[in-house]
Amino acid sequence: MTSIHPGNLHGTGDRTNKSRYHYARQRVQEAQKSKMEESDGARREETARKQTNNGLIVILILMIVLTWGIAATAYFGVIDYKGLVVRGSRIKVTDAAGYASALYPFQYDSARHPLKAIGKFLTSIDDYITNFLFSSEVSTNSLKKHRPIVRTIPLNKESNIVKRDTSKSESVVSDDPNPTKKPAEEKDVAKASDPSNDKDKPRKAKSPQPKQPKDSSTKKTKQETVKTNESTKKKKPSTVSEEDKKILNKLKEGERLLEKKKGTEAWKYFKKLSADYPESPKARFYRGKSEAMVAEQQKSNPMLTQAITTFTEVSEMSNCPKELQKQALIAKGERESFLGRMKPALQTQIELAKLYPKDIGILNKLGVRYLMLGKNTAAKKVYAEVLRLSPNDGFALVHMGFILKNAGEWAESVPYLMRGTESNEQGTQEGKFYFHLGDALYRTNQTKEAEQVYEKAAAKGLFRSKYQRSLYNVDRLRGKPFWTPEEAGVKDYVRRLELNWKLIRDEAMAILNTDTGLFDGESESLRDTGEWKQFPLFQRGRKEEANCRRTPKTCNILERMPNAAGCRRGQVKFSVMMPGTHVWPHTGPTNCRLRMHLGLVIPTTGSGTRLTCAGEMRTWQEGKVWIFDDSFEHEVWQQADSLRLILIVDIWHPDITEHEKKTLTAI
Ligand code: OGA
Ligand code: MN
Repeated sequence: MTSIHPGNLHGTGDRTNKSRYHYARQRVQEAQKSKMEESDGARREETARKQTNNGLIVILILMIVLTWGIAATAYFGVIDYKGLVVRGSRIKVTDAAGYASALYPFQYDSARHPLKAIGKFLTSIDDYITNFLFSSEVSTNSLKKHRPIVRTIPLNKESNIVKRDTSKSESVVSDDPNPTKKPAEEKDVAKASDPSNDKDKPRKAKSPQPKQPKDSSTKKTKQETVKTNESTKKKKPSTVSEEDKKILNKLKEGERLLEKKKGTEAWKYFKKLSADYPESPKARFYRGKSEAMVAEQQKSNPMLTQAITTFTEVSEMSNCPKELQKQALIAKGERESFLGRMKPALQTQIELAKLYPKDIGILNKLGVRYLMLGKNTAAKKVYAEVLRLSPNDGFALVHMGFILKNAGEWAESVPYLMRGTESNEQGTQEGKFYFHLGDALYRTNQTKEAEQVYEKAAAKGLFRSKYQRSLYNVDRLRGKPFWTPEEAGVKDYVRRLELNWKLIRDEAMAILNTDTGLFDGESESLRDTGEWKQFPLFQRGRKEEANCRRTPKTCNILERMPNAAGCRRGQVKFSVMMPGTHVWPHTGPTNCRLRMHLGLVIPTTGSGTRLTCAGEMRTWQEGKVWIFDDSFEHEVWQQADSLRLILIVDIWHPDITEHEKKTLTAI
């Protein structure tokens, strides 16, 4: 299901967030270990003074240990919340392979959200909780106020809605986070919730949306499509148990500290209260709240972990009122997710969904949790269930469409994405949904409709223009399809590449002749027909050492081009394309780079080879460079009789500052 950009061909996918998190944890452990070694070293020092004959050796060992200790401490920083912020962004840079698959073509990815939250984008868990689920990554395009959608697209009239099958209702919350794939059944599930027919039906009367706790990111704004939920506004379920009733005044007193954001005071207060009244779920819940508040205020990871433990305890108390259990689990899950603990966060959400199997907000979030772990099949079941309960739910519609589109079911995905985006509900106005909707329309021969979708998303500020649909953008940058070397500030690079083009070609041809298997096949589902392979030399500012050993001269030349070799939002790669290849119109992930193409082997037989960018057509020439901005839509044909070979060299956009070159997340 994961499709990736040509630039991300190496080692993507398997570095999940889990391994990333483990990696971080491992490093924390290493750092801690080194600290222990340090004090161990201090003891040795004393011994060394006494035993003079071993002195030199001991001092030497001591120095090594201390050096490592100091270096590790300096590198990892303080081992707490702040430390994780630093490490989080470090991992993003160094562990680029896994990260980039998060970005394009705009997948839900395990790696993306937690790192984003931990990294530079959001520093507050409150922001994280309210924003992360619904926000685009570097959405520098400020979202304009949504206009009402004028155009409606006729949908398939055939009804596929099936009757409620209670035996299925629990299936979405199966404990098995790895449900076995049952293709036949999946089709049924998809059909069961096909929303294509209920467009014209009157909307079902629904009970009002329950009041969600503050830290729930499942809130919906649109009352018109209020969901069928177990709890309602009218009758707010109680969170107070019998035990709590005995200490209501005491609870109130502490609540005031929380309201005043006096984290430490509240924590001390509730720590004592929950110790004095261990049977009070509410006292314990507030203890968790205060711990979470302290964690936030002091940026302390241990405290955040403590809050998670406390919320777990609350949820496990046998006398915990259901509503309080819900709030505790929601609070727990959000914090697990914030820390990048996606599997526990999923388990927590499964628990919640078991308690509230018809709560749309909870189910929608469950789907996201599955998606973030790459479990699209499980997510699909969840959204099918939501759509069975509430066929017009915009959030579920866009997500179901997203899943179908990424599974290659273009035609099936269209009505979901269409109706989901048209709902304007919270969580539906994301570039990636319009991106996939347009793409699905285009690939199913609905090119006019695709264009309208792109125009609409551009008008909403989700794309920079109907042609420039990258989603990881810096707003300030100039954008146009083709650039001259002067404009791009790379006259010298172009000269050097053109001077050395034969040498570069020969190195590439040598590896092609050795073994075409050295080239990576295109697996981004950008290809309509044919064969297209690539051989990366630099990715996200890092040298592909093994590949460069095969093309040392080319890499040598490139190493003297820091804006290319060091372009952390781009790649350098050979691209070989066989006759009969057509690449669907597509857009790169970011506007921060420009793309140079150096023609190496360019056949002119048959109908030749060409690239069209934003409606402008170009053909390559051997030994010549052209520069375009791949954040603009482009499409490629290879209709010659023999292979075509080019070198693709990404460079930082000339408007990108030196600071941005260092700090923008790698792509
Ligand atoms: C690109 C691209 C196609 C090719 O460089 O972005 O789509 O022919 N290239 O290699
Ligand atoms: Mn491209």
